[in-house]
Amino acid sequence: MILVTGGAGFIGANFILDWLRASDEPVLNLDKLTYAGNLENLASLQGDARHLFVQGDIGDRELVGKLLAEHRPRAIVNFAAESHVDRSIHGPEDFIQTNVVGTFHLLEETRGHWMGLPEADKAVFRFLHVSTDEVYGSLGPDDVPFTETTPFAPNSPYSASKASSDHLVRAYHHTYGLPVLTTNCSNNYGPYQFPEKLIPLMILNATRGKPLPIYGDGMNVRDWLYVTDHCSAIRTVLEKGKIGETYNVGGWNEMPNIEIVRTVCALLDEMRPDPAGPHERLVTYVKDRPGHDRRYAIDAGKIHRELGWKPDETFESGIRKTVRWYLDNMAWVEHVASGEYRKWVDVQYGERGAVSGER
Ligand code: NAD
Ligand code: TYD
Repeated sequence: MILVTGGAGFIGANFILDWLRASDEPVLNLDKLTYAGNLENLASLQGDARHLFVQGDIGDRELVGKLLAEHRPRAIVNFAAESHVDRSIHGPEDFIQTNVVGTFHLLEETRGHWMGLPEADKAVFRFLHVSTDEVYGSLGPDDVPFTETTPFAPNSPYSASKASSDHLVRAYHHTYGLPVLTTNCSNNYGPYQFPEKLIPLMILNATRGKPLPIYGDGMNVRDWLYVTDHCSAIRTVLEKGKIGETYNVGGWNEMPNIEIVRTVCALLDEMRPDPAGPHERLVTYVKDRPGHDRRYAIDAGKIHRELGWKPDETFESGIRKTVRWYLDNMAWVEHVASGEYRKWVDVQYGERGAVSGER
């Protein structure tokens, strides 16, 4: 079996669903179930013996050690993390605890376990660390996209904590020989994404006739990848990646935020027209995010050349599926939008305020 950490979150849940669609190899899912973890994402696996869920922290060494000894996974895919930049600005502590200290404890336990394996098991074992393009920092308009050799220059507590974990993973290979792989991916979107991130937040607010908050001038650029393409990249790296290497993953799809929001609005106009008028009328420019990275762009040439991976979805096909999914799964949205999330919206947007509706 494989051990997936953070498998009740957005990408982890998509990864497990895809994995079990394609194979019968069981998945042990270790997730703390923070505000971002939601077992409803995996409701379709209820009663499926191939999915074993354990609620717990990657930093709980006793638990991790016990799970490794008991289940002897052939690989670990580490998704568990605090993942939202705005939250890291308001409260970095959890990011350091999980992303840095938690990853360290997970690595320590993994190392101890791996060292004790018989040679044949040791040789096939892999630790795949899922990371982000944000570790590379911000690009100017004419800079070339990030490659695997671009120096790290993280700018937010989130990206700094992810960069730290990437460094630890690298060090465990160089120092102890642990068979690690790292992926650095661009912005994901798709089903089950918590509606604090740009795309689901815009879909949710637009369907409720609420303002669509655009930070700054809306011209910050991100590269966007449909989540199942990220999952297929991770499977490819797990299967064929060279130990100790990092692989950039991206959609070859750079877009300014305002373009993303306009696209979402146009799809909603088509799929669920609002009698009050086009959804774009709800666009509202708000105070910028502190230290907001201007541009991310990723060169995913290495994973294509060396491992043969490329995305299946275009942005047009992926965003259409995503908007459709949210409209068809409003019950899921209502559940996650309750409680913890509503408190966050008050903290984050209560103090920001609208700057103007037009720009
Ligand atoms: P998410 O916030 O939706 O999910 C994170 C999951 O980890 C949740 O289920 C949460 O309960 C769990 N978790 C948090 N702390 C934990 C801990 N200490 N122990 C065990 N479980 C814990 O995040 P996501 O968007 O699915 O991202 C998954 C991974 O992919 C993260 O490592 C993130 O940095 C990386 N990543 C995300 C994106 C993106 O666009 N979302 C892009 C590139 C890389
Ligand atoms: P986000 O989804 O938080 O991902 P990241 O910051 O990790 O790239 O944000 C994507 C972009 O959208 C980023 O430039 C910030 C911007 N943004 C807004 O303009 N308004 C919002 O309400 C949110 C959540 C993000």
